[in-house]
Amino acid sequence: MADITIERLDAPGATDCLPDLAALLRACVTAGGAVSFVLPFSLEDSAAFWRHQVLPGVAAGTRILLVARTHDRVAGSVQLECGLPPNQPHRAEVTKLLVHPDDRRRGIARLLMRALEQQAQQRHRSLITLDTRTGDHAERLYADLGYRAAGVIPGFARDPDGDRLHGTTYMYKLIGPSEPGGPARDDPSPGRADPQPASG
Ligand SMILES: CC(C)(COP(=O)(O)OP(=O)(O)OC[C@H]1O[C@@H](n2cnc3c(N)ncnc32)[C@H](O)[C@@H]1OP(=O)(O)O)[C@@H](O)C(=O)NCCC(=O)NCCS
Repeated sequence: MADITIERLDAPGATDCLPDLAALLRACVTAGGAVSFVLPFSLEDSAAFWRHQVLPGVAAGTRILLVARTHDRVAGSVQLECGLPPNQPHRAEVTKLLVHPDDRRRGIARLLMRALEQQAQQRHRSLITLDTRTGDHAERLYADLGYRAAGVIPGFARDPDGDRLHGTTYMYKLIGPSEPGGPARDDPSPGRADPQPASG
């Protein structure tokens, strides 16, 4: 994995990478990834997602965007949404973990998730949440990384390539400091948090 580097993108960096990010998301959806979109899903649709739903948060500093590069190409990406409501300054949400179909099973998703957790820790986030299609490979990855399943909602979303509905598993991980005085791992109380505007 010497050829893989993980990098955090700021808004200009993300703008420069937009064609690569659009291609990555489109490739994942076309390959059947359950990441909010349904087919047909064009490169323009994909670019619009990054431009309108990701870049504003990256520019505002409320959304952390990481990419995995291999040979100067974007092979994967993941985001951490920190712009949560005022009563959740200790929480952050993982979204859009994507690895290009040509680059899978090389440990890239694992590297991205570890780097994202470091970003969460640096922002004093002690609770990370996410959701994933029930039964997907990603669910196994998250479980391996210590995420616990909170529950399954059946019939949550459509598969990208048809009308079939799939369930979603909500998962969480406590990453609070382990030293005395830190949040109890069974009872995540709000840790110190950078002020963040609420987004929804
Ligand atoms: C899920 C996804 C991100 C995994 O990326 P990846 O770089 O191939 O994953 P890694 O190589 O880091 O694998 C990590 C672990 O995930 C699990 N896993 C990943 N792909 C798997 C597969 N095809 N079969 C079985 N287990 C798999 C394994 O536990 C694996 O650990 P191991 O290699 O030690 O057995 C990638 O398949 C993807 O982009 N899928 C489409 C988008 C998606 O569903 N994203 C998740 C949204 S919540």
